[in-house]
Amino acid sequence: MSNKKITIAIDGYSSTGKSTVAKQLANYLGYIYVDSGAMYRAVTYFAMQNGFIDELHFNIEGLISKLNNIDISFKFNETLGFAEVYLNNENIEKAIRTLEVSNFVSKVATASEVREKLVQQQKYMGLNKGVVMDGRDIGTVVFPDAELKIFMTASAETRAKRRYHELLNRGDNVDYNDVLKNVVDRDYIDTNRADSPLVKAEDAIEIDNSNLSLEEQFQKILQLVTMTLEGF
Ligand code: DC
Repeated sequence: MSNKKITIAIDGYSSTGKSTVAKQLANYLGYIYVDSGAMYRAVTYFAMQNGFIDELHFNIEGLISKLNNIDISFKFNETLGFAEVYLNNENIEKAIRTLEVSNFVSKVATASEVREKLVQQQKYMGLNKGVVMDGRDIGTVVFPDAELKIFMTASAETRAKRRYHELLNRGDNVDYNDVLKNVVDRDYIDTNRADSPLVKAEDAIEIDNSNLSLEEQFQKILQLVTMTLEGF
């Protein structure tokens, strides 16, 4: 494949399998992979740890006043084959994947101050191209000039089933209906927030992966990468 490096933005609804295919693609191309959702989850984890958010309260001003105390970084784990997320040098890769964090994260992601901080860091990580980033606003806000933009969709039930099995495999004790509710609620908040709502970029290519295997999905995207590189 070409030596030229492009920016690949993969956006879409929660649990569409964006990160799985994005990691696979980045490894294949020798690109950096950035899970932008992990950054919003890291801020949420910080907010939970510091008493800024729980079932009853969301102290947004308190969280915003401490944003400078939040340092998010990624370190490549050779064994796993992808970069894990760190909050103030603590590995939180596993801690941010719980249903509890998932239940609060969309709310935290509505805060413009939070978004501003994370978008700035995301733009910086993509300065040299050769990056695959997944999220909700990558093709619209973070990298509006990305050479390839993909928008992933799948039915809410398909996504909830996938997420449910993922959580069970981790050993989490979860109820399928709670997972489905989380997926539907997050879709609603993510698409209706005022700042950078989840929306398909005009020039994004939509892929519904409800009936695609991981391999079929990967091959389809790889074909798009090849075409993009040829026309670049
Ligand atoms: O990709 P994920 O499910 O781990 O993302 C968690 C949440 O973070 C998602 O519900 C909305 C928010 N998010 C966002 O607002 N913008 C992004 N670029 C990525 C995630």
